[in-house]
Amino acid sequence: MLGRLFVVMPVTFSKKVSPRHWMAYIDPEELNPQNPSIFISSPASAAVGCYGFQLYVFKQGVKKTSAFSKFTLLCNPWCREDAVYIPFEDQREEYIQNDSGLLFVGTSKNIVSRPWSFDQFEPGVLEACLNLLQVSPQHQKNRNMDYLNRNNPIYISRVVSAMINSKDDRGVLTGKWDGSFKDGVNPSLWTGSGDVLTQWAESGYSPVKYGQCWVFAAVMCTVMRVLGIPCRVITNFNSAHDTNDNLVIEEYYSETGQKLKHSNDSIWNFHVWVECWMSRRDVGPGMDGWQVLDPTPQERSGGVFCCGPAPVKAVKDRRIDLFFDIPFVYAEVNADVHAFVVSEGRVVSHSKDTERVGSLIYTKAVGVHRHQNITGDYKSIKSPSSTLSGSSAAMSEDSTLSRGSGMVVLLDLGKVPIAGEPVHFTVKVMNKHRVAKRMKVHLNAQAKEYNHSPSDTFWESHGVVQLAPMEVKVIHQQILPAEYENVVGDDVINLAVVLEDLASHERVLASEEFNIASPQLTIEIANADSVVLRKEQAAIVTFTNTFSHPVSGVLTVAGAGLIQGKVNFRMLPLRPGGSVMQRITFIPTKWGTKMLQARLSLSDINSAIRGFKMVLVCRA
Ligand SMILES: *[C@@H]1O[C@H](CO)[C@@H](O)[C@H](O)[C@H]1NC(C)=O
Ligand SMILES: *[C@@H]1O[C@H](CO)[C@@H](O)[C@H](O)[C@H]1NC(C)=O
Ligand SMILES: *[C@@H]1O[C@H](CO)[C@@H](O)[C@H](O)[C@H]1NC(C)=O
Repeated sequence: MLGRLFVVMPVTFSKKVSPRHWMAYIDPEELNPQNPSIFISSPASAAVGCYGFQLYVFKQGVKKTSAFSKFTLLCNPWCREDAVYIPFEDQREEYIQNDSGLLFVGTSKNIVSRPWSFDQFEPGVLEACLNLLQVSPQHQKNRNMDYLNRNNPIYISRVVSAMINSKDDRGVLTGKWDGSFKDGVNPSLWTGSGDVLTQWAESGYSPVKYGQCWVFAAVMCTVMRVLGIPCRVITNFNSAHDTNDNLVIEEYYSETGQKLKHSNDSIWNFHVWVECWMSRRDVGPGMDGWQVLDPTPQERSGGVFCCGPAPVKAVKDRRIDLFFDIPFVYAEVNADVHAFVVSEGRVVSHSKDTERVGSLIYTKAVGVHRHQNITGDYKSIKSPSSTLSGSSAAMSEDSTLSRGSGMVVLLDLGKVPIAGEPVHFTVKVMNKHRVAKRMKVHLNAQAKEYNHSPSDTFWESHGVVQLAPMEVKVIHQQILPAEYENVVGDDVINLAVVLEDLASHERVLASEEFNIASPQLTIEIANADSVVLRKEQAAIVTFTNTFSHPVSGVLTVAGAGLIQGKVNFRMLPLRPGGSVMQRITFIPTKWGTKMLQARLSLSDINSAIRGFKMVLVCRA
């Protein structure tokens, strides 16, 4: 029985089952008349949910109820006939069973991998995930219809995508992007999905504050893995949010290189969604496999904030005629960027970039702590020779370049900037005229959250260069730690240069966005080779202050299957260059490879420092 729906199965003495019907049997070879076992076999397309069952015994035509119980039924990716069947065992291990992983954030040139605990085996998580289906508007509106539809992963994934955000329903998480999280949890501070889901369930299903894209996606990944649908978290670097449906993102700069807030379109440095694995007989052949689902509330689909499932293959082939939401996902990975320099309300320079959006798409690789580059699954990669043309700007591996008719400016960030060290970069200017030129160089740096317009300028520099005909000059510049540390934190720096010909007032722009690599916590496990179930174990977390000023904060250590809940320690102000070690003990409750993670949330700057260690727990 599922709600009021039920099926009656006569118990047979034959072990023959069918993937299409409910069957029950007693194994004739194993028959123990004192204590008989009855096996129940469900059809591959059985609905997901919490079932009740009753056993009736008939004796000389008289019916007696002799047992009542419950079981939970999930999708089965091990079963060939199931719509979520995924053929390789290592993929099922990763996309269903792995309870920890990595989320990729940062910028495409300095990718940060954050540990995340999916927590699907932690207490209360299965119940919260099943109840998510029960409190959904679909279930509240028509229980029988909802139960009947729950045999379909397309339906389930769409319900979950809408329920992860709290818009339109009693969903799990409220999004917030304006930097003040006083009445909730800063999205950067969650370490796993378990806390979010159990807090939501314990509060009687009121939305948890707060989420941003990686939290929405990682929590959805947990729910899908729990329900038995293979799922992985995807990061799209330079993800376009095209609000006016023209497949173009407009960016405006002032004549001194300050980025302006003139457009509602935005490019998020990264955006995170999930892919779920299922067959798509509804949209025709060739579309089975990975499907994009995006629980972050961005645009409505069918009237509610949800997105997908969009077959990845359909995004690549631009099949905008197919279901669901393919044009939106297509723009996220393919829009063009048009950059304008404006002076006194007039556009004085214009450049186009067709390479920046969707520049890199990553997910965690199967079974190892590495990224897998899946850009080629979403996009047909153009050959690089087609990117430089006329006066357009283009991006190469590590620099941006902009050319006007007679001058060229190039911004080049040497190595990845590291917290506590100066940010070094070079500006290369070229005079392609046959006469000497005096040119003004305006440099401007702004901090920006990964999906926001930049805030005020925190660093600038202006100068004049004299260039002989055909001369090239390289200007070395640096931004000191004291100049950026308190403003930037976990944010991104938008650096722009505008070169202005003092005679003609012609201008060219080059810009670059980058993040600062933060220091890491290191974790050492005592006797790492002999960690045993239910036996106390010690670990040491070390932090070295690489910032140029003292820092203090709170250290949190967590680990699904290793630590119940979390442990917190206050860290007193630590001088620059100083180190601190914290010893912790824990008692593993699950065997297998488990993730121990530590996070130091700094009180002085908007930044969290992380570290993790995989622990192999043996059965004893
Ligand atoms: C941006 O969005 C706001 C609010 O939705 C709207 O009032 C404004 O006209 C939009 N601006 C542009 C440039 O489209
Ligand atoms: C999960 O992935 C990690 C590597 O990232 C691996 O060490 C671990 O064995 C995996 N666990 C399972 C259950 O596959
Ligand atoms: C990622 O994959 C794409 C497509 O295969 C390729 O063009 C690109 O160079 C790769 N990038 C990195 C950083 O591996």
